[in-house]
Amino acid sequence: GKGGYDHFMLKEIHEQPTSIAQALEGRVDPGAGEIALEGFEPGTFADVDHVQLVACGTSYHAAMYGAFALRQAGIHATTVLANEYSVAAPPIDEDTLVIAVTQSGETADTLNALRRATAGGARTLALTNVVGSTAARQADDALFIRAGPEIGVAATKTFSSQVVMLVLLAQRITEDRLGDPAADPDTLLPALSQTPGAIDDLLESSRAAAIADRFEDSQSYFFIGRGLGYPVALEGALKFKEITYEHAEGFASGELKHGPLALVTADTPVFAVFVGDEDEKTLKNAAEAQTRGAPVVAVCPEGHRATEVADAHLEIPDTDPDVAGLLANVQLQLVSYHAAAQLDRPIDKPRNLAKSVTVE
Ligand code: M6R
Repeated sequence: GKGGYDHFMLKEIHEQPTSIAQALEGRVDPGAGEIALEGFEPGTFADVDHVQLVACGTSYHAAMYGAFALRQAGIHATTVLANEYSVAAPPIDEDTLVIAVTQSGETADTLNALRRATAGGARTLALTNVVGSTAARQADDALFIRAGPEIGVAATKTFSSQVVMLVLLAQRITEDRLGDPAADPDTLLPALSQTPGAIDDLLESSRAAAIADRFEDSQSYFFIGRGLGYPVALEGALKFKEITYEHAEGFASGELKHGPLALVTADTPVFAVFVGDEDEKTLKNAAEAQTRGAPVVAVCPEGHRATEVADAHLEIPDTDPDVAGLLANVQLQLVSYHAAAQLDRPIDKPRNLAKSVTVE
Protein backbone atom coordinates (compact mmCIF):
# COMPACT_ATOMS: atom_id res chain seq x y z
CA GLY A 1 0.00 0.00 0.00
CA LYS A 2 0.84 3.66 0.02
CA GLY A 3 1.65 3.65 3.73
CA GLY A 4 -0.58 6.60 4.50
CA TYR A 5 0.71 8.76 1.66
CA ASP A 6 -1.57 10.02 -1.12
CA HIS A 7 0.71 8.64 -3.79
CA PHE A 8 3.45 6.08 -4.19
CA MET A 9 5.70 8.85 -5.45
CA LEU A 10 5.48 10.74 -2.16
CA LYS A 11 5.97 7.52 -0.22
CA GLU A 12 9.04 6.71 -2.29
CA ILE A 13 10.45 10.21 -1.86
CA HIS A 14 10.12 9.68 1.89
CA GLU A 15 11.74 6.26 1.68
CA GLN A 16 15.02 7.72 0.45
CA PRO A 17 16.71 7.88 3.85
CA THR A 18 16.05 4.14 4.18
CA SER A 19 16.86 3.19 0.61
CA ILE A 20 20.15 5.11 0.70
CA ALA A 21 21.06 3.50 4.02
CA GLN A 22 20.39 0.12 2.39
CA ALA A 23 22.60 1.00 -0.56
CA LEU A 24 25.43 1.91 1.80
CA GLU A 25 25.00 -1.06 4.13
CA GLY A 26 28.24 -3.00 4.42
CA ARG A 27 29.74 -1.03 1.56
CA VAL A 28 31.03 2.01 3.41
CA ASP A 29 33.18 2.14 6.53
CA PRO A 30 33.71 5.81 7.36
CA GLY A 31 35.86 4.98 10.40
CA ALA A 32 38.36 3.01 8.34
CA GLY A 33 37.93 5.30 5.32
CA GLU A 34 37.18 2.26 3.20
CA ILE A 35 34.59 1.09 0.77
CA ALA A 36 33.75 -2.48 -0.19
CA LEU A 37 31.76 -3.29 -3.31
CA GLU A 38 30.82 -6.96 -3.34
CA GLY A 39 32.27 -8.67 -6.37
CA PHE A 40 34.69 -5.81 -7.03
CA GLU A 41 37.90 -6.31 -5.11
CA PRO A 42 40.39 -3.44 -4.98
CA GLY A 43 42.37 -3.51 -8.22
CA THR A 44 39.55 -4.94 -10.32
CA PHE A 45 39.37 -1.79 -12.44
CA ALA A 46 43.14 -1.28 -12.78
CA ASP A 47 43.05 -1.81 -16.55
CA VAL A 48 40.04 0.36 -17.22
CA ASP A 49 41.13 3.07 -19.58
CA HIS A 50 37.77 4.54 -20.51
CA VAL A 51 34.35 4.36 -18.86
CA GLN A 52 31.20 4.66 -20.94
CA LEU A 53 27.90 5.03 -19.13
CA VAL A 54 24.75 4.16 -21.06
CA ALA A 55 21.20 4.77 -19.82
CA CYS A 56 17.88 6.47 -20.56
CA GLY A 57 15.76 9.10 -18.85
CA THR A 58 16.29 9.54 -15.15
CA SER A 59 18.93 6.81 -15.13
CA TYR A 60 20.81 8.81 -17.76
CA HIS A 61 20.90 11.77 -15.41
CA ALA A 62 22.35 9.56 -12.68
CA ALA A 63 24.88 8.33 -15.24
CA MET A 64 25.86 11.94 -16.01
CA TYR A 65 26.39 12.51 -12.30
CA GLY A 66 28.70 9.49 -12.13
CA ALA A 67 30.60 10.45 -15.27
CA PHE A 68 31.14 13.94 -13.96
CA ALA A 69 32.55 12.60 -10.68
CA LEU A 70 34.89 10.34 -12.67
CA ARG A 71 36.04 13.08 -15.02
CA GLN A 72 36.66 15.49 -12.15
CA ALA A 73 38.99 12.81 -10.78
CA GLY A 74 40.85 12.48 -14.06
CA ILE A 75 39.19 9.35 -15.48
CA HIS A 76 38.14 9.34 -19.11
CA ALA A 77 34.37 8.90 -18.78
CA THR A 78 31.56 9.57 -21.23
CA THR A 79 27.79 9.21 -21.13
CA VAL A 80 25.79 8.12 -24.14
CA LEU A 81 22.02 7.86 -24.29
CA ALA A 82 21.41 4.15 -24.72
CA ASN A 83 19.08 4.75 -27.65
CA GLU A 84 21.82 6.70 -29.47
CA TYR A 85 24.54 4.20 -28.71
CA SER A 86 23.80 1.98 -31.69
CA VAL A 87 24.06 4.95 -34.06
CA ALA A 88 27.43 6.21 -32.92
CA ALA A 89 29.09 4.61 -29.92
CA PRO A 90 32.47 6.00 -28.96
CA PRO A 91 35.27 3.53 -29.82
CA ILE A 92 35.39 0.48 -27.53
CA ASP A 93 38.10 -2.03 -26.74
CA GLU A 94 38.87 -4.50 -23.98
CA ASP A 95 40.01 -1.67 -21.69
CA THR A 96 36.63 0.00 -21.92
CA LEU A 97 34.19 -0.46 -19.06
CA VAL A 98 30.58 0.05 -20.14
CA ILE A 99 28.24 0.67 -17.23
CA ALA A 100 24.54 0.24 -17.99
CA VAL A 101 22.52 2.24 -15.48
CA THR A 102 18.99 0.87 -15.42
CA GLN A 103 16.60 0.68 -12.49
CA SER A 104 14.42 -2.03 -14.01
CA GLY A 105 17.17 -3.83 -15.86
CA GLU A 106 14.64 -4.37 -18.67
CA THR A 107 14.85 -1.18 -20.74
CA ALA A 108 15.16 -2.30 -24.36
CA ASP A 109 17.35 0.63 -25.40
CA THR A 110 19.79 -0.04 -22.59
CA LEU A 111 19.87 -3.79 -23.19
CA ASN A 112 20.68 -3.09 -26.85
CA ALA A 113 23.55 -0.83 -25.85
CA LEU A 114 24.85 -3.53 -23.52
CA ARG A 115 24.72 -6.07 -26.33
CA ARG A 116 26.68 -3.75 -28.59
CA ALA A 117 29.27 -3.11 -25.90
CA THR A 118 29.79 -6.84 -25.43
CA ALA A 119 30.05 -7.38 -29.19
CA GLY A 120 32.71 -4.64 -29.31
CA GLY A 121 34.77 -6.45 -26.70
CA ALA A 122 34.15 -4.11 -23.76
CA ARG A 123 33.80 -5.20 -20.16
CA THR A 124 30.22 -4.59 -19.02
CA LEU A 125 28.62 -3.84 -15.69
CA ALA A 126 24.91 -3.48 -14.94
CA LEU A 127 23.95 -1.07 -12.16
CA THR A 128 20.37 -2.02 -11.44
CA ASN A 129 17.68 -2.38 -8.81
CA VAL A 130 16.41 -5.76 -9.91
CA VAL A 131 18.27 -8.93 -9.07
CA GLY A 132 17.73 -11.44 -11.87
CA SER A 133 16.83 -8.74 -14.39
CA THR A 134 17.92 -9.13 -18.00
CA ALA A 135 20.61 -6.46 -17.63
CA ALA A 136 22.01 -8.14 -14.52
CA ARG A 137 22.21 -11.44 -16.37
CA GLN A 138 23.46 -10.02 -19.64
CA ALA A 139 26.36 -7.95 -18.28
CA ASP A 140 29.68 -9.41 -17.14
CA ASP A 141 29.04 -8.07 -13.65
CA ALA A 142 26.17 -6.55 -11.73
CA LEU A 143 25.96 -4.17 -8.84
CA PHE A 144 22.63 -3.67 -7.08
CA ILE A 145 21.29 -0.38 -5.79
CA ARG A 146 18.96 -2.07 -3.24
CA ALA A 147 16.31 0.66 -3.41
CA GLY A 148 13.40 -1.74 -2.95
CA PRO A 149 10.42 -1.81 -5.33
CA GLU A 150 9.54 1.51 -6.94
CA ILE A 151 5.88 1.67 -8.00
CA GLY A 152 5.52 5.30 -9.14
CA VAL A 153 6.37 5.69 -12.82
CA ALA A 154 8.41 8.74 -11.86
CA ALA A 155 11.77 7.47 -10.65
CA THR A 156 12.76 9.02 -7.33
CA LYS A 157 14.44 6.76 -4.78
CA THR A 158 16.11 4.72 -7.49
CA PHE A 159 17.78 7.86 -8.85
CA SER A 160 19.29 8.72 -5.48
CA SER A 161 20.53 5.18 -4.95
CA GLN A 162 22.03 5.11 -8.44
CA VAL A 163 23.87 8.33 -7.64
CA VAL A 164 25.17 6.94 -4.35
CA MET A 165 26.42 3.77 -6.06
CA LEU A 166 28.04 5.69 -8.90
CA VAL A 167 29.86 7.91 -6.42
CA LEU A 168 31.16 4.74 -4.73
CA LEU A 169 32.09 3.19 -8.07
CA ALA A 170 33.93 6.38 -9.00
CA GLN A 171 35.96 6.01 -5.80
CA ARG A 172 36.91 2.41 -6.61
CA ILE A 173 37.64 2.95 -10.31
CA THR A 174 39.76 6.02 -9.65
CA GLU A 175 41.71 4.35 -6.86
CA ASP A 176 42.34 1.25 -8.97
CA ARG A 177 43.32 3.21 -12.04
CA LEU A 178 45.14 6.23 -10.62
CA GLY A 179 46.19 5.11 -7.15
CA ASP A 180 44.06 7.63 -5.28
CA PRO A 181 40.28 7.64 -4.82
CA ALA A 182 38.21 10.29 -6.60
CA ALA A 183 37.34 12.14 -3.38
CA ASP A 184 38.95 12.21 0.05
CA PRO A 185 37.36 9.22 1.86
CA ASP A 186 37.66 11.04 5.19
CA THR A 187 35.15 13.63 4.04
CA LEU A 188 33.11 11.76 1.43
CA LEU A 189 32.32 8.61 3.43
CA PRO A 190 31.00 10.39 6.55
CA ALA A 191 28.97 12.67 4.28
CA LEU A 192 27.44 9.67 2.54
CA SER A 193 26.67 8.03 5.87
CA GLN A 194 24.98 11.21 7.04
CA THR A 195 22.87 11.53 3.90
CA PRO A 196 19.86 9.59 5.25
CA GLY A 197 19.67 11.93 8.26
CA ALA A 198 20.19 14.98 6.07
CA ILE A 199 17.31 13.91 3.80
CA ASP A 200 15.08 13.33 6.82
CA ASP A 201 15.78 16.90 7.95
CA LEU A 202 15.17 18.25 4.48
CA LEU A 203 11.87 16.38 4.10
CA GLU A 204 10.68 17.74 7.40
CA SER A 205 11.56 21.36 6.74
CA SER A 206 11.04 21.66 2.97
CA ARG A 207 9.06 24.63 1.71
CA ALA A 208 8.66 23.05 -1.72
CA ALA A 209 4.84 22.95 -1.46
CA ALA A 210 4.69 26.71 -0.92
CA ILE A 211 7.05 27.30 -3.83
CA ALA A 212 4.96 25.07 -6.11
CA ASP A 213 1.89 27.00 -5.04
CA ARG A 214 3.48 30.39 -5.60
CA PHE A 215 4.46 29.60 -9.19
CA GLU A 216 1.43 27.55 -10.14
CA ASP A 217 0.29 29.81 -12.99
CA SER A 218 3.57 30.00 -14.87
CA GLN A 219 4.04 29.36 -18.55
CA SER A 220 7.24 27.28 -18.46
CA TYR A 221 9.61 26.11 -15.78
CA PHE A 222 13.35 26.22 -16.27
CA PHE A 223 16.01 24.43 -14.27
CA ILE A 224 19.68 25.35 -14.44
CA GLY A 225 22.80 23.93 -12.83
CA ARG A 226 26.52 23.58 -13.38
CA GLY A 227 28.81 20.63 -12.81
CA LEU A 228 27.04 18.07 -10.64
CA GLY A 229 24.15 20.54 -10.58
CA TYR A 230 23.62 20.10 -14.32
CA PRO A 231 22.25 16.52 -14.24
CA VAL A 232 20.18 17.61 -11.24
CA ALA A 233 18.69 20.44 -13.31
CA LEU A 234 17.90 18.03 -16.15
CA GLU A 235 16.34 15.58 -13.72
CA GLY A 236 14.33 18.37 -12.05
CA ALA A 237 12.87 19.34 -15.42
CA LEU A 238 12.16 15.75 -16.49
CA LYS A 239 10.29 15.01 -13.28
CA PHE A 240 8.37 18.27 -13.56
CA LYS A 241 7.15 17.76 -17.13
CA GLU A 242 6.45 14.07 -16.56
CA ILE A 243 4.02 14.47 -13.70
CA THR A 244 2.64 18.03 -14.05
CA TYR A 245 2.28 18.05 -17.88
CA GLU A 246 3.63 21.60 -17.76
CA HIS A 247 6.47 22.67 -20.00
CA ALA A 248 9.82 22.36 -18.24
CA GLU A 249 13.39 22.32 -19.50
CA GLY A 250 16.74 21.84 -17.88
CA PHE A 251 19.91 23.56 -19.03
CA ALA A 252 23.52 23.83 -18.09
CA SER A 253 23.66 27.24 -16.40
CA GLY A 254 26.18 28.52 -18.91
CA GLU A 255 23.99 27.55 -21.86
CA LEU A 256 21.11 29.86 -20.95
CA LYS A 257 22.72 32.76 -22.77
CA HIS A 258 23.35 30.65 -25.88
CA GLY A 259 19.67 30.45 -26.84
CA PRO A 260 17.16 29.54 -24.12
CA LEU A 261 17.34 33.05 -22.62
CA ALA A 262 15.07 34.12 -25.50
CA LEU A 263 12.26 32.18 -23.78
CA VAL A 264 12.77 33.75 -20.37
CA THR A 265 10.02 36.12 -19.18
CA ALA A 266 8.24 37.01 -15.94
CA ASP A 267 6.16 33.86 -16.53
CA THR A 268 9.07 31.42 -16.53
CA PRO A 269 10.45 30.74 -13.07
CA VAL A 270 14.05 29.56 -13.08
CA PHE A 271 15.13 27.00 -10.49
CA ALA A 272 18.88 27.39 -10.04
CA VAL A 273 20.85 24.58 -8.40
CA PHE A 274 23.93 25.53 -6.38
CA VAL A 275 26.14 22.61 -5.37
CA GLY A 276 29.53 24.28 -5.20
CA ASP A 277 30.64 23.93 -8.83
CA GLU A 278 31.49 27.50 -9.89
CA ASP A 279 28.43 28.85 -8.11
CA GLU A 280 29.48 32.45 -8.80
CA LYS A 281 28.99 31.85 -12.51
CA THR A 282 25.57 30.28 -11.99
CA LEU A 283 24.65 33.30 -9.87
CA LYS A 284 25.43 35.52 -12.86
CA ASN A 285 23.42 33.28 -15.18
CA ALA A 286 20.48 33.42 -12.78
CA ALA A 287 20.80 37.21 -12.56
CA GLU A 288 20.53 37.39 -16.36
CA ALA A 289 17.19 35.59 -16.11
CA GLN A 290 16.09 37.91 -13.32
CA THR A 291 16.88 40.93 -15.49
CA ARG A 292 14.30 39.54 -17.96
CA GLY A 293 11.76 39.47 -15.14
CA ALA A 294 11.99 35.77 -14.30
CA PRO A 295 11.63 34.81 -10.66
CA VAL A 296 14.64 32.79 -9.52
CA VAL A 297 14.33 30.00 -6.96
CA ALA A 298 17.75 29.04 -5.60
CA VAL A 299 18.27 25.49 -4.38
CA CYS A 300 21.32 25.88 -2.19
CA PRO A 301 22.89 25.40 1.26
CA GLU A 302 21.71 27.56 4.13
CA GLY A 303 23.38 30.97 4.18
CA HIS A 304 24.57 30.64 0.58
CA ARG A 305 25.02 33.92 -1.26
CA ALA A 306 22.25 32.91 -3.67
CA THR A 307 19.70 33.33 -0.87
CA GLU A 308 20.41 37.07 -0.86
CA VAL A 309 19.66 37.58 -4.53
CA ALA A 310 17.10 34.92 -5.42
CA ASP A 311 13.37 35.62 -5.19
CA ALA A 312 12.91 32.47 -3.15
CA HIS A 313 15.05 29.59 -2.05
CA LEU A 314 14.95 25.96 -0.98
CA GLU A 315 17.65 24.96 1.45
CA ILE A 316 19.78 21.87 1.50
CA PRO A 317 21.81 20.72 4.51
CA ASP A 318 25.53 21.49 4.29
CA THR A 319 27.43 18.46 3.00
CA ASP A 320 30.22 17.20 0.80
CA PRO A 321 30.15 18.56 -2.78
CA ASP A 322 29.65 15.04 -4.19
CA VAL A 323 26.47 14.62 -2.17
CA ALA A 324 24.97 18.13 -2.42
CA GLY A 325 23.36 17.41 -5.80
CA LEU A 326 21.54 14.46 -4.34
CA LEU A 327 20.00 16.65 -1.67
CA ALA A 328 19.12 19.39 -4.16
CA ASN A 329 17.38 16.76 -6.25
CA VAL A 330 15.15 15.80 -3.32
CA GLN A 331 13.95 19.41 -3.04
CA LEU A 332 13.14 19.38 -6.76
CA GLN A 333 11.31 16.05 -6.47
CA LEU A 334 9.09 17.71 -3.86
CA VAL A 335 8.49 20.78 -6.05
CA SER A 336 7.32 18.56 -8.92
CA TYR A 337 5.22 16.42 -6.65
CA HIS A 338 3.40 19.34 -5.06
CA ALA A 339 2.92 21.15 -8.38
CA ALA A 340 1.37 17.99 -9.84
CA ALA A 341 -0.78 17.44 -6.76
CA GLN A 342 -2.15 20.99 -6.99
CA LEU A 343 -3.08 20.28 -10.61
CA ASP A 344 -4.67 17.00 -9.57
CA ARG A 345 -2.62 14.95 -12.01
CA PRO A 346 -2.52 11.13 -11.85
CA ILE A 347 0.94 11.33 -10.30
CA ASP A 348 1.80 7.65 -10.07
CA LYS A 349 0.72 6.87 -13.64
CA PRO A 350 1.29 9.84 -15.90
CA ARG A 351 -0.41 9.60 -19.30
CA ASN A 352 1.52 7.94 -22.14
CA LEU A 353 4.30 6.63 -19.91
CA ALA A 354 5.20 3.16 -18.63
CA LYS A 355 7.37 2.16 -15.71
CA SER A 356 9.48 -0.14 -17.81
CA VAL A 357 10.04 0.68 -21.48
CA THR A 358 10.60 -2.60 -23.29
CA VAL A 359 10.28 -1.26 -26.84
CA GLU A 360 12.79 0.66 -28.94
O1 M6R B 1 14.46 1.13 -15.80
P1 M6R B 1 15.38 2.18 -16.33
O2 M6R B 1 16.17 2.86 -15.29
O3 M6R B 1 16.25 1.67 -17.43
O4 M6R B 1 14.40 3.25 -17.00
C1 M6R B 1 14.90 4.30 -17.79
C2 M6R B 1 13.86 5.37 -17.97
O5 M6R B 1 12.77 4.89 -18.70
C3 M6R B 1 13.38 5.92 -16.63
O6 M6R B 1 14.45 6.38 -15.87
C4 M6R B 1 12.37 7.06 -16.81
O7 M6R B 1 12.97 8.16 -17.42
C5 M6R B 1 11.81 7.45 -15.44
N1 M6R B 1 10.78 6.53 -15.03
C6 M6R B 1 11.28 8.85 -15.42
O8 M6R B 1 10.91 9.20 -14.13
